[in-house]
Amino acid sequence: MTTKEKNILDSVIYSYTSNTSQTGEENQILKETVSKLKEELDKFKVPPLMVSEVRNVFGKDAIIRLPNGNQFYVNISEECGKVKPGDMILADQKNLTIIRKIPTTRKFDIESFVIMEKPKVSWDNIGGLDDQVREIKEVVELPLKKPELFKKVGITPPKGILLYGSPGTGKTLLAKAVASSTNSTFIQIVASELVQKFIGEGAKMVKEIFELARKKAPSIIFIDELDALASKRIEIGTSGEREVNRTFMQLLAEIDGFNPLDNVKVIGATNRKDILDAAVIRPGRLDRLIHIPLPKNEGRLEILKIHSKNMTLGKDVDLDNISSLMEDLSGAEIRAVCTEAGYFAIRENRVKITRKDLLKGIDKVRQEEATEGEDYMRMFG
Ligand SMILES: Nc1ncnc2c1ncn2[C@@H]1O[C@H](COP(=O)(O)OP(=O)(O)OP(=O)(O)O)[C@@H](O)[C@H]1O
Ligand SMILES: [Mg+2]
Repeated sequence: MTTKEKNILDSVIYSYTSNTSQTGEENQILKETVSKLKEELDKFKVPPLMVSEVRNVFGKDAIIRLPNGNQFYVNISEECGKVKPGDMILADQKNLTIIRKIPTTRKFDIESFVIMEKPKVSWDNIGGLDDQVREIKEVVELPLKKPELFKKVGITPPKGILLYGSPGTGKTLLAKAVASSTNSTFIQIVASELVQKFIGEGAKMVKEIFELARKKAPSIIFIDELDALASKRIEIGTSGEREVNRTFMQLLAEIDGFNPLDNVKVIGATNRKDILDAAVIRPGRLDRLIHIPLPKNEGRLEILKIHSKNMTLGKDVDLDNISSLMEDLSGAEIRAVCTEAGYFAIRENRVKITRKDLLKGIDKVRQEEATEGEDYMRMFG
């Protein structure tokens, strides 16, 4: 072989081997891609695991509670290791064997779920509810401000009160005012949210809300729409009803559990006292029932004065007369009249509110009330 021939052969061999190493690399990359895709595909085939809570442990078995409240007696798999009551675990969907523990804590960040504030509502912001205000002062404000007085007299003040009455009559406002006058933390929960948003967790939430209230005492727990939780039910059939019932029982237990002089008061509010379960208004619980009525003549005038306080009223405005035209309107509606009147003025580039603006405001609010009534009739009538 000549040197020339040998050189050619070398270069051919070189290009051949470098080519095979290139295909080898490509092959490797493709193999990796395939195996990655396979892995991904496998993930789609694995059935989801059920998140539940351990209730009791008996050696290699345990009782777990599913989110819907049902409890099962199940195995603990070898690889899971030790579990204890209260742990959150993942269970197989079919036989509910405990597969592994998950590191979530049982505690909610309760503070992010409830509305907690130190409201600034003075008693002067409330019109026409003198008797009710007096009663709330006696039952809620006085024990928070002067617990020693009750010890001396030897009586225990009520743990809470129930405010009931039509929408927009000032129930929330009253609760905030008493929180403000006692410088208490105001913790507001809406009962219907408690049962809808936190399915399976309602009872736990209630417990933690009371814990929070004690930690932030003095405090007032305001439970709005109490009827969603505490309405009397004839039969307890569906799991949803059972859930509501459990939450309700926890609420009663918490109310029973705290000391009336613990610096925590419960204020419930409802538009439907008629459907409330008697258990919640039994003596020793929310045993003061305070009716918040629609405002009467003088009450309406007071509320109107409160909400028109910062308005510039024209000379032709006679608030006495205006309030007499607002029969049957709630406090919230009276406020709405003022707002609407303000808008009528704004539309005409005025800052002064005239009698006509207020009359138009009344018309508008009454009309809205009427259409709401019609909608209601259409839906339920
Ligand atoms: N008696 C009142 N005095 C002054 N303002 C009032 C009065 N009642 C209601 N209002 C006004 O109406 C608004 C709504 O009232 P509030 O939220 O207290 O009603 P509510 O009774 O809690 O109604 P709901 O049953 O719909 O929850 C208040 O923020 C306030 O501006
Ligand atoms: Mg309210």
